[in-house]
Amino acid sequence: MKLLPRSLGGQLFVLMFGGFIVGNLFGTLGLWSQAGALHPIAREHALSRTITAYRLANRMPAEGGDNWLDSFNTQVAHLWIDHTPNVRDMDERELSLATALKQRLNAQAVTVRMPCRRDAASRSLAQMDNVAGDSIECVEIDLALDHGRWLHTRQSLPTQSLWREGWQLLRFSLIVGIPPVLILMYVFVNRILRPTAALTAAAENMSRGERIDPLTIQGPDEIREIALAFNDMQERMTRFVDERTRMLAAISHDLRTPLTSLELQAAMLPESEERDEMLRTLDEVRQMVNETLSFAHQNARGEASEQVDLVQLMDDVLDRQRDLGHEVELRAPSRLSYRCRPLALKRALSNLIENALRHGQRAEVSMRRDQRDGDILIDIADHGPGIPEHLLERVFEPFFQLDPSRNREDKGNGVGLGLATARDCIRAHGGNIHLHNRASGGLVASIVLPSHRDVDAMA
Ligand SMILES: Nc1ncnc2c1ncn2[C@@H]1O[C@H](COP(=O)(O)OP(=O)(O)OP(=O)(O)O)[C@@H](O)[C@H]1O
Ligand SMILES: [Mg+2]
Repeated sequence: MKLLPRSLGGQLFVLMFGGFIVGNLFGTLGLWSQAGALHPIAREHALSRTITAYRLANRMPAEGGDNWLDSFNTQVAHLWIDHTPNVRDMDERELSLATALKQRLNAQAVTVRMPCRRDAASRSLAQMDNVAGDSIECVEIDLALDHGRWLHTRQSLPTQSLWREGWQLLRFSLIVGIPPVLILMYVFVNRILRPTAALTAAAENMSRGERIDPLTIQGPDEIREIALAFNDMQERMTRFVDERTRMLAAISHDLRTPLTSLELQAAMLPESEERDEMLRTLDEVRQMVNETLSFAHQNARGEASEQVDLVQLMDDVLDRQRDLGHEVELRAPSRLSYRCRPLALKRALSNLIENALRHGQRAEVSMRRDQRDGDILIDIADHGPGIPEHLLERVFEPFFQLDPSRNREDKGNGVGLGLATARDCIRAHGGNIHLHNRASGGLVASIVLPSHRDVDAMA
């Protein structure tokens, strides 16, 4: 199947164009049956020459000699009279010529031989072959004259050439046929490909977490059904995500009232170690609720995708950390063009960089485009303690923290949503994040962002 192009358009083209060419070739091959038949005009000439000679021969007195026959002899024809009879069985082709002659002459015996016997005389006639450029057939016709004599003729006649006539016909049919076939092909291939291109673009946008308009239902039945199924799936998924987000927002929102009341009650307790601890915990819970609410809001906003320079975007994120006095390092090409939702991606990258700085003091970021498949690869490394191997996946669970007390005390007070939201965002772009410990110590967060054929080609 390697011979076939991989694209649907290419395959349709081969199918239609190939069908046209093969059809024409078969049509031309239909001419094969006529190949080798004597050329009709030459055949008529040979017959009339033979008929004239036959009639004259019967009228001329036998004693007068046969010199008059010399005027019939040319480079391609040789006629003579003698007493040698020639009667033999003939094949279909020979018989058809003999019958035609018999009918026109009323002759008693006509014998035709095609091709002639292989002798010097017939070979000299056949030398015309090269001159005519066509294939030549030597034909012998023997007719019984009155008074027991026989008229013998040997003539060279051109046969119909399959190649020349077939090629002429094929050329004509290709010249006349190809433009309409190309137009038809363009119309039909376009009719099939336009909706599939729209479907691919919609699926890619959806994989980036964008909200997309329903596809226009167009094209052949099968493509329409795919588009209908796609619209249906997209609508259900959007409804499902919206419902979950709304529920999340509602729960977080409703939690804030009892939380405020708890905080008030705790604040009114007499001052003690326990009261402070209670207030600290309540503060943490409020932060979680707020984070969840803002996450739900961000999700509901549905930011649009745009083509951005990822290196510039990363630089903006790092600049904020530099301003705060953190040590960050970036290794990247001068430019990496990518289509994404920039604010969401910025948030995800910030979360990872904040983690690296919180746990490892210093963040080393490297970015590059994979030469093989065009994916964008981003590594964020630190020199911190890393994460125990068996927890490398669990830290992505919402609110999961390795050692909350350690986090709280001296490294800022996160709630354990950073990695969860970062992975959500990267997955919404069709990519993924993985964590792994470095042999030299420290953690690396590796991000893969998939290439998108349509837009990244411009990068
Ligand atoms: N670079 C890192 N080095 C060591 N441990 C890490 C690193 N990044 C994350 N962790 C561990 O994984 C846990 C989860 O990280 P995550 O970013 O989800 O939450 P957080 O940083 O604690 O809080 P938030 O990001 O919501 O402010 C952290 O509590 C921390 O223990
Ligand atoms: Mg974090």
